[in-house]
Formats: sequence, structure tokens, C-alpha cells
Amino acid sequence: MPDSSQPKPEGVNGTGYSGTNGVSPAGTVRISQAVRAVSERMEPAPSQRRFAHIVGWGYHVPAKVITNKDLEQIVDTNDEWIRTRTGIQERHVAADPKETTATLAIAAARKALTLADLDPAKIDLVICATTSPEYQFPATACLVQDAIGATNAGAFDLSAACSGFVYGLAMARGHILAGDAEYVLVIGAETLSRLVDWTDRETCILFGDGAGAVLVAASEMPGGLLNSVLGSDGSGRDALILPGGGSAAPTSLETVSSGQHYIKMDGKAVFRFATRVMASATRKVLERAGYTTADVDLIIPHQANIRIIQNSVLNQLKIPEEKVFVNLQRYGNTSTASIPIALCEAIEAGRLKQGDKLVFVGFGAGLTWAACAIDWQTPTEKQAAGGWWKNTRRQATYQAAAARSMWKRAVNWVYDVLPSDPESAPAKKVEPAVTPAKPGKE
Ligand code: ACO
Repeated sequence: MPDSSQPKPEGVNGTGYSGTNGVSPAGTVRISQAVRAVSERMEPAPSQRRFAHIVGWGYHVPAKVITNKDLEQIVDTNDEWIRTRTGIQERHVAADPKETTATLAIAAARKALTLADLDPAKIDLVICATTSPEYQFPATACLVQDAIGATNAGAFDLSAACSGFVYGLAMARGHILAGDAEYVLVIGAETLSRLVDWTDRETCILFGDGAGAVLVAASEMPGGLLNSVLGSDGSGRDALILPGGGSAAPTSLETVSSGQHYIKMDGKAVFRFATRVMASATRKVLERAGYTTADVDLIIPHQANIRIIQNSVLNQLKIPEEKVFVNLQRYGNTSTASIPIALCEAIEAGRLKQGDKLVFVGFGAGLTWAACAIDWQTPTEKQAAGGWWKNTRRQATYQAAAARSMWKRAVNWVYDVLPSDPESAPAKKVEPAVTPAKPGKE
């Protein structure tokens, strides 16, 4: 960022003459002085500066676990190949049809809110990053907003594949720093098992289901989400794609029979891209934060493949193993959920403490990449705000949200069944407001 406090040379080469638009040198000087005065006025006083901190976190995964040995029964693969080529040993899968992206997201969101002890009505925005949304529309975020009783929140889904959670954090930070929000709930939630071709050994071994959520809050305390780097290279769109069901290939018998509704991946191309961008995005975000790799206390990379993490974080960035959090062996690649789930587990494992410098970095379909640097200031020994009364009240809040939602849907249903079309309603005899005067009675 340029230092706005430094006087800038005016016009071309600092001559004070712009040479454009017929503005005289004196006029240019006046304009640039005015611009400087405005930008100086816009610089907030230290006491007015806002920061965005993660103050609550939670995750939820389905109970059903599929091990590599289980996969040996389904496709031509073996435990040894999967472990050595990816690092994955098992993954959680939403086996119960009632478990969906929204139910996982809601469970994770409630845990984050419980930990932060926040009334859901105070949330301003719900962002759900997902690659496997509940529906094309409405947004999964809207279902979460309704279920948790975030009655004053806007809600939208964010599509940036596995980079989506970090994109979501960047959006949350932006809203908070702009003064548009006090609390933003950012969720990464997936049921990729529903989009995977279970006969394709190159993809079905990689992915798992789950959700992670964080609550981002405005604060005057310096630190928190410092900055982010977001990137995209759409020329790599074919490397990782779900081709069917969009406007390019609307659902038809042909798209279904040719397997266009399953994930298609060029593993080698994604691998090459990932190792490159994970390192460069981390370097860039650290530079923007004024840090070096030596300052990093913990890096939480997207959990896709242990070899991608080794190649980029350990080998290229030279960040030692003890500063890298990895849990992909137990979850596989949960896409947008992988970083928030890993964050929760890093905290549970005591790997993160107040004052630590943290980096999240991810990549995914698009192709996209994203990194953010964090100066972590929230106490991690923070336990779920407990007590029988608080927990009972919180459960009551969620039940009230469910009842409110059911009531609103019932009212909508009543409106639907009542004849509302004036054409279909029996014609009413319209009485004239004023009785017409009888002729000749004047
Ligand atoms: N079991 C056994 N053998 C396998 C399997 C398997 N599950 N899958 C592939 N093989 C075979 C191949 O057929 C090939 O055999 P061949 O040599 O006889 O032709 C051999 O193993 C080597 O295959 P490669 O594709 O070269 O294997 P590679 O080491 O590249 O690993 C992998 C493949 C794991 C997919 C790797 O390329 C990778 O992780 N890529 C990145 C994928 C990724 O991260 N995707 C998610 C992005 S995030 C998002 O947006 C969702």
C-alpha cells in the first residue's frame, strides 16, 4: 500500500503539469492537494480503527468412516497406494440421506456460536463456501441462517471450490472493516461424496464430507485477519470440473448417462498448479503483512494431498514440519471445510495460542487460490460458554428458530392454497360508494 502520509509529486514526473484535459498546472496542483486532503481526512484515527477477529469456531463430520481398506472393496486400489500417494487413511462420509451439506453446516455453525456465546440475532452476514450446495438455489447459507435463528443476517453461498473458505474470510474482513457488519459467520461445508463417481479410483479415494465454521467479529483490538491474497486462472477450468447441470450442459438423459454430474479431474495438472500457488500465495500474503516465513507460528494448508504440502510448504517455503498442521489422514480432502476443520483440531491439540502468527492457504477448482495472514489474539483455552442455564437457553433459541421457520412455511402454504388470484375468486358485487342521484329529483 502506498504511504498516503508522504507528499506525492504532482503531475507527470513530478512537474506539477498533467498535460491532460486542458487542466492548467495550477489547477492540477489544486486538484491533487484536494485529493490528498480528502485521503488524509479518510485515514481513521487510531481509536476508530476496526479489526476482524475469529472469536468462535466449530466443526462437524458425519459419523460414518470409510477406510482405504473399505475402498479396496469398491475400486481397484489399495491402502498402500493411497497412503503413499496422498497420505489419506480414512474419510467421513454422509451415509445417512438426511445428512446434507446444510445439516453439517448448521451443526458446525451452532458449535461456533456456542463457543463465542453469541445471540444468533446479532449476526449480520452468513457466508457459506461450498462446492456441493444443498441446491443450485436457494443458497445453503439461507438454510443455515434460518436454522440458527440469524434473523437479522444476509446470507449467500460462495463458489471458489476448495479456496472458498479463505475467500469467505476475506469477504468477512472486508464487510467488518468497511463498517457494514459486526459479526460474520463463515462456513465451509461439503458432501462431496454425493458428487464423486465411486467407480473412478482417481477421485473417489481423495474426498470426504464435513463442515467447519468460524465467527468473525469486529473489534478495536489490533490484529486478527490482517490481509488476504485471492487468485484465479480460469484457463485451467477443465482440470477440475463438474460439467453437467449448469447452463453449458443442462441436465438431460445424455448428461446423466455419460456421467457429466460427477467430478472430473486431471490430477497431475492440479498437483502441479497446487504446489506452485501454495508457495507463491503464502509468500505474497506474508509480505503484505510485513512478515517473513520465519515469523510464522502455524500454517494451516488446504488438506488435499500430503505430497502437495511437503512440496510447497516444507520444501519451497522451508517452513518446518512442526509449524504445519495436517489432519488429512483422517478426513481426506473436504474441500472448503478442510481449513476450518483443521483450525478446530489445531486448537484442540494446543497448537495455537494468543499472539501466534498464522497462515491459511488453499487452492481449488477454477482454478483458484487464496491465502490469509492472521495475528491470532483470541484466547484458545476459551471453552464453550457453559452452564446448564446457558446451554438450555441456547437450545431453546434453536428450537424457537425451527418453530419460527415451520410457522412461516405454514403461513406461506396457507397463502398458496387460498384462492389469491382475483380472476379465480367469485366475483363480488361492487357497491357504488355514492348512491347515484335519481334523475329529476334535483
Ligand atoms: N489406486 C491405485 N492406483 C491408482 C490410483 C488408485 N486410487 N489412482 C491412480 N492410480 C494409478 C494410475 O492409473 C497410474 O497407473 P499407470 O502408471 O499404470 O498409468 C499410477 O497410479 C500413477 O497415477 P498418477 O496419476 O501419476 O498418480 P499421482 O502420483 O499423480 O497421484 C493424485 C494422483 C493423487 C490424484 C495426485 O495427482 C493429486 O493428488 N493431484 C491433486 C488432486 C487434488 O488435490 N484435487 C483436489 C483439488 S481441491 C478442489 O477444488 C476440490
